[in-house]
Amino acid sequence: MKLCIIGTGYVGLVSGVCFSDLGNDVICVDNNIEKITKLKKGIIPIHEPGLSELVKKNYRANRLSFTSNISEAIKKSNIIFLCVGTPTKKKSNAADLTQIFAAAKKISLNIKSPKIIINKSTVPVTTGDQIERIISKKVNKKLFSVVSNPEFLREGEAIRDFIYPDRIIIGTSNKKSSKILKSLYSPLISKGAKYVNTSRRGAELIKYASNAFLATKISFINEIANLCEKIEVNVEDVSIGMGLDKRIGGRFLRAGPAYGGSCFPKDTRAIVDTAIKFKTDLSIIKSVINSNQNRSKLLLQRVSKILKNKIKNKKIIFLGVTFKANTDDMRESSSLTMIPNLAKKGAIIKYYDPTGYKKEFKKYKNVYNSPSIKEACVDADLIIIHTEWNDFKSLNYNKLSKKKNFIVYDMRNILPYEKIKENKVKYFGIGR
Ligand code: NAD
Ligand code: UGA
Repeated sequence: MKLCIIGTGYVGLVSGVCFSDLGNDVICVDNNIEKITKLKKGIIPIHEPGLSELVKKNYRANRLSFTSNISEAIKKSNIIFLCVGTPTKKKSNAADLTQIFAAAKKISLNIKSPKIIINKSTVPVTTGDQIERIISKKVNKKLFSVVSNPEFLREGEAIRDFIYPDRIIIGTSNKKSSKILKSLYSPLISKGAKYVNTSRRGAELIKYASNAFLATKISFINEIANLCEKIEVNVEDVSIGMGLDKRIGGRFLRAGPAYGGSCFPKDTRAIVDTAIKFKTDLSIIKSVINSNQNRSKLLLQRVSKILKNKIKNKKIIFLGVTFKANTDDMRESSSLTMIPNLAKKGAIIKYYDPTGYKKEFKKYKNVYNSPSIKEACVDADLIIIHTEWNDFKSLNYNKLSKKKNFIVYDMRNILPYEKIKENKVKYFGIGR
């Protein structure tokens, strides 16, 4: 099939590459010319394991191309995926749909033959209806259909999640579009993915409800971890004990810093905003948002306590600053709250991230990027393990700093509980 992917970001690039790897002709479009220029040269603008190899393979096979000419790309394709951003609006909790509507307008000016327009971006219920209205101002309704097909991939695991999804949700009442999409996804369905055909609005809500539920699970275990710290119980045992109940499930029960990323924070805010528009109170999700906002404050209080309230001139090292491991994405990472807070209190912060320097900390004069773990930690008073990269799992923490009595605060519980108890360094974990 001939596909066009509008928006070549974390979702669009992965989806485009994976669809091309399944044998489709895919044109990836972006209005960010710098991004397209890089991709044409084989430079991948994001860190996603396995992506670079797959892009090169399919580019060479002439199944994958990159362009900033949206009109040409639309004309050459029969299936158009919308994968543009839907961030939070300024001074509001609502999703900003500017990118979606701009792309819909462009599509409306370039439809001359039948097209299926599939929205993969996460959008509030009724956005599909609005996209349809925008396009139908210029195009006969018989010539196109608008389908919702939310994406459930995780950054850092994106390729595997795309190829082996639990489910494929298709929101449309158009039988022909549903049949074509089932055929497009048939290689994934044959590997075990469940195919669910629902209404367009139903698909839009499934996406938000899923993200809000996962965020709830994380906040739930984070609060249980707070209790564990007071009663000398290991939260890991609680997660295992709870998760073995199939009705609960063990995944997304890892306690840690505030959840971040480009999705849970913005999507929990957006679903609450949508519910208000429909006069519904989503009190559970509101309290999850509140709990997550308090999480960084709480962990900062613990840092203060660990350092006996003496933060000024202390050398604090962050191992990993992105919102999770295996990605370069800094969007709503808890380090963006914690590092400036500690820097303002006079700490000298060094960070090491496997994906390198982060411009987000440029404006803080006592925050430095380190080229290696060794260099970062050599004179540390406190080492904070902020993300769960494999790179940090097998280090000999006893010897990382030459300072006496330095402390390790493992915010991801990556170090085995028993091993740490034997160690000479002072160690703190989450809910331990
Ligand atoms: P992103 O910001 O990384 O990528 C969006 C891309 O769209 C950018 O490269 C931007 O330049 C481009 N763009 C914007 N307007 C355009 C236009 N008119 N024409 C062409 N290109 C345009 O965003 P993302 O993280 O890939 O997320 C995209 C959507 O997918 C969001 O709605 C998000 O909630 C959803 N989603 C994201 C993930 C994830 O892991 N990041 C997972 C599932 C769903
Ligand atoms: C999340 C969802 O998992 C995807 O299904 C969804 O497609 C995506 O959002 C989206 O809509 O964009 P992502 O944000 O990439 O994926 O990463 P996650 O692995 O879900 O992590 C999100 C945050 O929760 C991170 O800060 C992570 O550290 C935290 N987390 C996750 C925990 O603290 N504990 C856990 O057990 C799991």
